[in-house]
Amino acid sequence: MKILAIETSCDETAISILEAKGELNPPANIVSAPHFKILSNVVSSQIKLHAKWGGVVPNLARREHEKNIIPVFRKALKEAKMFNTVSKSKVTPWKPVQDVTLEKILHREPELLKQFLKEIPKIKIPKIDAIAVTYGPGLEPALWVGINFAKAIAFAWKKPLVPVNHMEGHIIASLLNGKSNPPNGGQNAKLIKFPSIALLVSGGHTELVLMKKWLNYKIIGQTRDDAVGEAFDKVARMLELGYPGGPIVAKLASLESQNSESEIKLPRPMLASGDFDFSFSGLKTAVLYLIKNLKENKDNVLDEATIADICREFQQAAIDVLVSKTINATKKYKAKTIIIGGGVAANKELRNQFAEAIEKESSYQTDSKTGLSLLIPDLNFTTDNASMIAAVAYLRINGAKNSIIKDISKLKADGNLILK
Ligand code: KG4
Ligand code: ZN
Repeated sequence: MKILAIETSCDETAISILEAKGELNPPANIVSAPHFKILSNVVSSQIKLHAKWGGVVPNLARREHEKNIIPVFRKALKEAKMFNTVSKSKVTPWKPVQDVTLEKILHREPELLKQFLKEIPKIKIPKIDAIAVTYGPGLEPALWVGINFAKAIAFAWKKPLVPVNHMEGHIIASLLNGKSNPPNGGQNAKLIKFPSIALLVSGGHTELVLMKKWLNYKIIGQTRDDAVGEAFDKVARMLELGYPGGPIVAKLASLESQNSESEIKLPRPMLASGDFDFSFSGLKTAVLYLIKNLKENKDNVLDEATIADICREFQQAAIDVLVSKTINATKKYKAKTIIIGGGVAANKELRNQFAEAIEKESSYQTDSKTGLSLLIPDLNFTTDNASMIAAVAYLRINGAKNSIIKDISKLKADGNLILK
């Protein structure tokens, strides 16, 4: 099955085409379990545009998605070698189905409608089995562009449409492995053993999710205030390092300490709370006061070594809490696999320290054959992409009822969509 997926929940316009094979139930052997081959994975980032504002501006994101989605779509088809044009004589306008028309689907995106009518009739309909689209959580103005474009393509090309939860995408991204063979191929779904614990760490979410079986998610803990990625971004802003903060803070944190007696210490919020919830707003405020105090002692300027020390200690505080709570959840639910997903999963220290912690802890398992394994996506699949959305759509078509939406007019953006 070939699936084209569209992702516009935040500041990335992403379209991918994925070839998927295998069955979820029962995966009798490695060959028959779901596995993926990425035919194209196009991501057009708006980071530079939003950097000026220090964060993502929803209406700017909407406008950019509207402008970029068709170029990204063409590129995704080209990369997958599915882009062919039709001769003019064969270009036929679309007839309304019941009372659905293209004009109605795209009436809130007049620019996109214009581009659509000009470009899409010239493209030969490719051999794609379904269209998938993220419908939440995320920024609603941004989500709507992807949804309406997906509806328009599904309508024009008469393809089934599968709505996907973005956070489920970040979990299933762990099955996408750019380094495997064949290149751009996927890992086998058999690598996920149940029960699994997924830690989702992104700009908008920090969640621990229990998976007892495929397509079944229970949130067992989440942040009570800021998401961890948001805390990285805010700390970077306080230190005037730019946006997005995660990669910059991580880079500075990785510098060798110039300050042998750094006395910078930050709290590990809710480390001993006994539940699986998180809180990062107190940590962020602690950084704010720390900066203020240090500046007072240093004529209002922080030297580079001090900034690096702050980044290192902040990052370590965040990692300590994330690792500890995830390991505790693993023990409580006797999990066999830990999955990490979302933008912050790109953090090298986080990846390394999770690997170390799991190695140390796997001895608690009595059944040494099952062990405890760690699945983290390759770097290009930790941040937002559409391949993960296509992979979820395949699993849903394969293993869930009602995965295809019957009446496309009913599909709406849900900014606060919850994983169930
Ligand atoms: O999943 P994502 O691309 O978008 C959302 O769905 O939010 O995550 C973006 C977040 C940002 O907060 C960014 O600062 C953070 O992921 N991030 C990182 C790193 N790379 C991206 N945080 C820490 N270390 C990194 N290397
Ligand atoms: Zn995301």
